[in-house]
Amino acid sequence: LENGLGRAPQMGWNSWNHFACNINEDIIRQIDDCWAAYDRDSQGNLVANPSTFPSGIKVLADYVHGKGLKLGVYGDAGSRTCSNKMPGSLGYEEQDAKTFASWGVDYLKYDNCNDQGLSPQPRYINMSKALLKSGRDIFFSLCEWGVNDPATWASGVGNGWRTTGDIQDNWGSMTAIADTNDKWASYAGPGGWNDPDMLEVGNGGMTTEEYRSHFSIWALAKAPLLIGCDIRSMSNDTKEILSNQNVIAVNQDELGVQGHKVQQDGDEEVWAGPLSGGRVAVVLWNRGSAEASITANWNSIGLNASTVVDAHNLWTNEITSSVQGELKETVDTHACKMYVLTPK
Ligand code: GLA
Repeated sequence: LENGLGRAPQMGWNSWNHFACNINEDIIRQIDDCWAAYDRDSQGNLVANPSTFPSGIKVLADYVHGKGLKLGVYGDAGSRTCSNKMPGSLGYEEQDAKTFASWGVDYLKYDNCNDQGLSPQPRYINMSKALLKSGRDIFFSLCEWGVNDPATWASGVGNGWRTTGDIQDNWGSMTAIADTNDKWASYAGPGGWNDPDMLEVGNGGMTTEEYRSHFSIWALAKAPLLIGCDIRSMSNDTKEILSNQNVIAVNQDELGVQGHKVQQDGDEEVWAGPLSGGRVAVVLWNRGSAEASITANWNSIGLNASTVVDAHNLWTNEITSSVQGELKETVDTHACKMYVLTPK
């Protein structure tokens, strides 16, 4: 969507993966489902839940802005949200967009439950138009789980679109979602990104190496990097993964091209994509149950066979100079090695 937003994938924190509906204004920096009262007020306005958000969303937005952050809220393109605990915006698009703008909301995640049998396109287009008219820059994140292949139609509607069902905090879910999202790689770019759902890093269902793979692949795929754990009690491993500046820089690179799976040999995979300055990001990913040797060939990652590069290992910070033709490394089970290759 050309609203000036989303020039790089969004980064932040979202309550849902860890807290689900158990949120209140003390916990929240960004809000998913369950922040509003069960019903609209007598004028049809959405109102904050008086028991959990007694100060209202405007006060919360002011607080979050005071920390130098932006505030996102959650809504739904149907009659009720997915939890059924608050109203959806179907038929109230303009009124709700104005409400969000008046509160100082910067981001809308817009879900797809209780659709009243209507297809997603018109419902999402209506909210997109309403947000553009709201008088405030609001990042529009479509959460319709890949229904009707949003990558093919949503680039003029939102700044990102979910390509898959909900992620779960386990290896099987994470890897399946990575593959489903990968099919739509060519549709992503500045202004509109494929969204394979929020991060599970730090929620406890995967090993540290599995979480490192999750974060590496999401970064390479130009996915939103939305933390989904309880950031008040992160382990050192979780912090180290989520704050790796090298990996985040790949995600936020100005070229904005989604990296994708370029080689697969059984459980041994190479994912790669171009970066600004003629550099290439590469992930050697071992999805098998034993250590394996994985080789990225220059011809499959978009380099000429004769190109000589410096290879920066983004997780160890080691640089190997003058590598040519291929990059061959041993990778632990369910782990990855991630590099930026800079041609000499
Ligand atoms: C859907 C979305 C999730 C979350 C829940 C909230 O399942 O895909 O990300 O927002 O609704 O109810």
